[in-house]
Amino acid sequence: MRRRVPPIVSEYFRGGADSESTMRGNVRAFQQSLTTAYGAIKFPSVDMSTTVLGQRLEVPWFVAPVGSLRSLYPKADAVASKVAGEFGTAMAQSTLSGTLLEDVAEASSGPCWFQLYLCGGRETALRGIARAKKAGFKALILTMDTGVSGMRALHQRMKPMEAAAPFKGLGPIEMVKLAMRKVALGPQMLPRLPWLLAHFMDGGLIKFVNVIDDDGNAMPYTDIGTQLAASAVTWDDLKWIKEAWGEENPLILKGVHCADDARKAEDLGATGIIWSNHGGRQQDRVPPSLHIVAQEMPKMKGSKLDFMMDGGIRNGTDIFIALTYGLKAVGIGRVAAAGIGAGGHAGLTRAFEILKSDLDRAMRLIGVQSVEEIRERGAELRRENMMIGGEHLPPFEF
Ligand SMILES: Cc1cc2nc3c(=O)[nH]c(=O)nc-3n(C[C@H](O)[C@H](O)[C@H](O)COP(=O)(O)O)c2cc1C
Repeated sequence: MRRRVPPIVSEYFRGGADSESTMRGNVRAFQQSLTTAYGAIKFPSVDMSTTVLGQRLEVPWFVAPVGSLRSLYPKADAVASKVAGEFGTAMAQSTLSGTLLEDVAEASSGPCWFQLYLCGGRETALRGIARAKKAGFKALILTMDTGVSGMRALHQRMKPMEAAAPFKGLGPIEMVKLAMRKVALGPQMLPRLPWLLAHFMDGGLIKFVNVIDDDGNAMPYTDIGTQLAASAVTWDDLKWIKEAWGEENPLILKGVHCADDARKAEDLGATGIIWSNHGGRQQDRVPPSLHIVAQEMPKMKGSKLDFMMDGGIRNGTDIFIALTYGLKAVGIGRVAAAGIGAGGHAGLTRAFEILKSDLDRAMRLIGVQSVEEIRERGAELRRENMMIGGEHLPPFEF
């Protein structure tokens, strides 16, 4: 992805909040987890399927909602839903996407889930929910950790919004300044002309085409920060959101860090939750997602929720380890973005193939035949880490 996509764009997908401790911690927590392998076991095939929210997924991961995907690749959200469908799994589409909900649903042969932010306020959100329902989306994900946008300093310093600003309405001096700003991007754009060409052929700077205001206009890209802050979700919003989405339709709360919030979500009618720290992009210095899962899942005995997680998953063994905590499925954020950014359909297909062959191998080498069995045997498949220090671990890359 970083070879094909210029840093001013790819940094948005790489970055985490503040010191990036949580972002790196997400990955480290998996790297430091160990499994017990049971030997001399052979299967003709392994069963990776899982059922979450009553929906069968052929593999136990789904594409987590990632905003602005279309800046990586033409119609990237529809590309992602197509690949997810081809692997028999779900694609979660962000409110902050540049591809029409209808196109994303149309491209997929699997279930699509709509991730809701309340950008633009209640009426705008209701329009989005109605469209998602009509287009056949199968679950609504309400993200509750984005009251304001996290501080992703490196990307902010690159001033992407400034570089993306239009010339229209500027005086001559501002126009020259902006032109110089754009010209200064030459060195990173020139080696990446295929991306630049594809970007402009695809319509250039994306608009949030599923966030439609009262006058029928799509939210401009540059409004993200203010819009997010003005539209923070609260527990009180759950009632009207659930009503609009349909009482019987699956509702997932995403960005849950503690059992208290998970229980509150269940009491207010959620059917699933995603333990998630937003890939370390919101509040820094919160625990790695895997530690949240390890600490909070035991407190949820007796709950009817379907549990999922995301954050830090980079390979099939990571997925295996997450499932040992009793989760139904896991979300894949940066791995999916990197696959799409590297090569659209082919890139994401390759990323999914790698995950699939990794997980297949891990299941065979550990001696477990199905996802159901991983969830049931749980702790017996994990092993305490007795190594001190992290010198043996690979460096953090992405
Ligand atoms: C570039 C980027 C954009 C994201 N945009 C959204 C979003 O619009 N809505 C949302 O709920 N989560 C969003 N997330 C969070 C992901 O859904 C997911 O929680 C996170 O990426 C998981 O961590 P991972 O990247 O280590 O897999 C975004 C993540 C990234 C990396």
